[in-house]
Amino acid sequence: MTALPPWRQLQRGAREREGRSPAARWLQLATVSPDGTPRVRTLVFRGWADAAGLDLLTDGRSAKPAELRQQPAVELCWLLPKARCQFRLRGVVLTLPTEVEWEERIRHWQGLTPTGRALWGWPEPGAPFGAAEDFPAELADETPLPEHFQLLRIDLA
Ligand SMILES: Cc1cc2nc3c(=O)[nH]c(=O)nc-3n(C[C@H](O)[C@H](O)[C@H](O)COP(=O)(O)O)c2cc1C
Repeated sequence: MTALPPWRQLQRGAREREGRSPAARWLQLATVSPDGTPRVRTLVFRGWADAAGLDLLTDGRSAKPAELRQQPAVELCWLLPKARCQFRLRGVVLTLPTEVEWEERIRHWQGLTPTGRALWGWPEPGAPFGAAEDFPAELADETPLPEHFQLLRIDLA
């Protein structure tokens, strides 16, 4: 088994101090837009793929996938307020082998709660607000995985 990078132990300790706070899983993902200017937004940490592989989930129709195709280098900033600690982690978004990517997308899709899945049933990001029923609160377990359900695996090694 690959040894954990030293910051993983520190990060785990800081996360434990947050208890069950949902905010302990929020981090900021910075990318470079095609015009060379920075972009940053909050995402939910979805788990470790391996010692230095961090998984995020996003909507393939949002801006960031296109930014990442052009520039796969990213920086994450993960603030853990109770520990008064921030982890600034640099990495690259991996292009996974097709088979692995498909399996991992399915694994994540099936692992989400119906509420967590609902975001991928919403209209295209940036589209004008429509009717409330366009925004389901839940997507049932048997909902097929949408094309725009995208896994971002970041190699922080
Ligand atoms: C608390 C919180 C959690 C979020 N989690 C995610 C997430 O896991 N994945 C995601 O794609 N967007 C998430 N978002 C929305 C993003 O911050 C962002 O608005 C969206 O992904 C579109 O970004 P883009 O236009 O830069 O691609 C979250 C927003 C908030 C406030």
